[in-house]
Amino acid sequence: METRSAAQEGQSGTASSPAAASAPVAGAAHVGEADLARAVRMLQAGGVIGLPTETVYGLAANAADAGAVASIYRIKGRPADHPLIVHVASAEAAARWAVWSPQAQQLAGAFWPGPLTLVLPRRPEAPPFASAGQDTIALRVSSHPVFAQLMQALAPVGITGLAAPSANRFGRISPSRAAHVRSGLGEAVPLVLDGGPSAVGVESTIVDLSRGQPVLLRPGGISLQALSDCLGVPVRAADTQATAEADAPRVPGALPSHYAPSVPVRLLPASAVQALYREWAREADAQGVGAEEGSPGRSFWSEAGMQALAGEPAGFGTPPALPVSLQPGQPVALWTLQPPPERAGAFWRRQPADAATAARHLYDTLHQLDALGVQAILVEMPPDTPEWRAVRDRLTRAAA
Ligand code: TXA
Ligand code: MG
Repeated sequence: METRSAAQEGQSGTASSPAAASAPVAGAAHVGEADLARAVRMLQAGGVIGLPTETVYGLAANAADAGAVASIYRIKGRPADHPLIVHVASAEAAARWAVWSPQAQQLAGAFWPGPLTLVLPRRPEAPPFASAGQDTIALRVSSHPVFAQLMQALAPVGITGLAAPSANRFGRISPSRAAHVRSGLGEAVPLVLDGGPSAVGVESTIVDLSRGQPVLLRPGGISLQALSDCLGVPVRAADTQATAEADAPRVPGALPSHYAPSVPVRLLPASAVQALYREWAREADAQGVGAEEGSPGRSFWSEAGMQALAGEPAGFGTPPALPVSLQPGQPVALWTLQPPPERAGAFWRRQPADAATAARHLYDTLHQLDALGVQAILVEMPPDTPEWRAVRDRLTRAAA
């Protein structure tokens, strides 16, 4: 992590290149036989492991083992009434857990393996432990090669479903790297299979097919339009106040405050970012701040500068309100499209202009900025367009 004055862009260097957006993500495509065998032994014994998927890392246990599933809840600190996703090897395997349907087949055929979770009626004979009292079950087939490797190795020992929420403590930032799992959960998870950085970076799209009209419960890498086109009927988004209340259960990914770093996250429209930069540049000029002031832990903004952002009219119109009063002299972290002015003394990561790249960087960036000891993380809110839906959703929850 660098300050702006060091002019470092970190991972952002590749962010705006279209080639980078579609480039394969580096990282282990396979794990070694020893790690794989250890994973199988631990899961067989009712243990919990860290597992890479293309969305985020999961905290996985045998979904047919009540004690193992209970361990997931304990390690995560997750409320017992919040159901888990069961990860299976194929649509055929999914049909043994859930009452399969033509719609399920259409979506599975188009998007599995991939970042899509289907909520379906649970078969009465299927293990209920991941469903947290619901008569439905959430199922997904991950496209990560390590996931496929593991499911293949588990078949001979009779494990056909892995319950796996994101491998973070309840309400905290989801992990997109093995290191995030280790730092977040530590000793509680002695084995984390390292599959490299997650290629999608935000949790799977969840579609509920259990109640008539298909409902999007959580936006992810697959758009509402793509889902509706595939099914030939409109998929309803459960993200307005009215639908959210109607759409029980209130599952964790759908709670207003979720995916949160330990320091406050504040979302700013692009105009507010520009207003903040202008204010910082003006104060830097007025105070004749030298380059040494740009070091981490130093910053030069005054109360007056912050007030200008807190809703005082200015020449260019009324700047949008900052929902927090920032303390002068304490650094902030920024995830914005443009760098702040020279000598701002703020930590800065460039926000990719492309939604898929931004999604891939999102949690890693929040993990890094969260570790800096700043007073707040200021994030430029991406545009309200369909491709940004999942990133905007996670940012809104991180800031709630
Ligand atoms: O990308 C992902 O989906 C990741 C990776 C590890 O697969 N998993 C994940 O799990 O995000 P978790 O536990 O953090 O989120 C599970 C979500 C819940 O928030 C809930 O919305 C939904 O799955 N869910 C699970 N079972 C459900 C059910 N029976 N009815 C409705 N929603 C359910
Ligand atoms: Mg989660």
